Amino acid sequence: MKIEFTFPRSDVSTAVRVEPRVKDIDVSPDFLILDSTVKNIYGSRLPSCDHEVVLAGGEVSKTPDILEKLWQKMSQANLRRDSSVVVAGGGTVCDIGAFAASTWKRGVNLTLIPTTMLCMVDASLGGKTAVNVAGAKNQAGTVYPASEILICPEFLETLPLKELNNGLAEALKTAVIGDRRIVEYLLNKDYTRAVTACLAVKGRIVAADLEETGERRLLNLGHTVGHCIEAVSRFSIAHGAAVAMGIPVAAEMGGNHDLARELRAVAGKLGIETIIPETITVQGILTHLESDKKTTSAGRIWIIPEGWEDCRQVLLDLSTEKELLEKVWQ
Ligand SMILES: NC(=O)c1ccc[n+]([C@@H]2O[C@H](COP(=O)([O-])OP(=O)(O)OC[C@H]3O[C@@H](n4cnc5c(N)ncnc54)[C@H](O)[C@@H]3O)[C@@H](O)[C@H]2O)c1
Repeated sequence: MKIEFTFPRSDVSTAVRVEPRVKDIDVSPDFLILDSTVKNIYGSRLPSCDHEVVLAGGEVSKTPDILEKLWQKMSQANLRRDSSVVVAGGGTVCDIGAFAASTWKRGVNLTLIPTTMLCMVDASLGGKTAVNVAGAKNQAGTVYPASEILICPEFLETLPLKELNNGLAEALKTAVIGDRRIVEYLLNKDYTRAVTACLAVKGRIVAADLEETGERRLLNLGHTVGHCIEAVSRFSIAHGAAVAMGIPVAAEMGGNHDLARELRAVAGKLGIETIIPETITVQGILTHLESDKKTTSAGRIWIIPEGWEDCRQVLLDLSTEKELLEKVWQ
């Protein structure tokens, strides 16, 4: 199965290809970057390469030090402008690997093989690459869409449940934004259809707005409160779980209480918790919102779901925002 997206600004076309089994993945990279867990589990079935770098999965690998290590290895491998880099891993390894590929010789050919649900439905598509700086997430990055994304659902068979749920939350977000059939696919555990439907929604949005000046903001549904929940919990609540909690909050802020109830019920069926622990207070949320990087003097843009496949961008001034959040937390 092949799906193709073209991104307007960078003149790049991203082809999404589905390979049901890992052993059928057919790539011949000049440089291969692999998540260490993926290497341990699937190493013998993955394509081999003379120049291979193995990175630990997780935020520990999204650092300037690792970026420099990748550049050094790329230099030793004599990678040229027309060389090809393949990255196989979750969102962290793909983010740093894609950053390195996007900056080496000002950009070499890039193929991403996402191996987590989150990376399949979200991080692999859209071109955002990133490293964390001084402990703060995604402080430096580029926008560099991969020329190819290979989806292989077999990778999901070994993914820990917590990691699967992180990705399911982002898939639920995508269903609310653009295709409610994704929920059915997920409930039926038809992950191939769910992932390709998520990529179709994200691809449509990103192709229209690669630079996030308009419609791409919709992809932040659940994230404004979600980021605060993550931070207030000192990251004991995972990103996906926090986003799943944030989506019904956004519906309630828009006064759409029935929808919020429905979204919590659907998340429950998918095994995702949406009840916000009592330790996450509205005061904590408001404090963390002060450092939200999307704040302007006029306020903050919230993504409010009015219904399935019907999300609006609403600019809330800070006092209205506070009032609405306090109501939700009552
Ligand atoms: N670029 C984007 O547009 C974008 C979008 C969303 C999130 N992100 C980024 O994605 C990152 C999170 O990615 P993630 O959720 O994939 O986490 P991750 O990359 O940390 O992977 C989670 C864990 O799963 C392991 N793993 C990977 N594949 C596996 C498999 N098939 N079987 C067993 N274990 C496997 C990894 O080793 C790791 O321990 C964050 O840094 C976030 O900022 C980027």
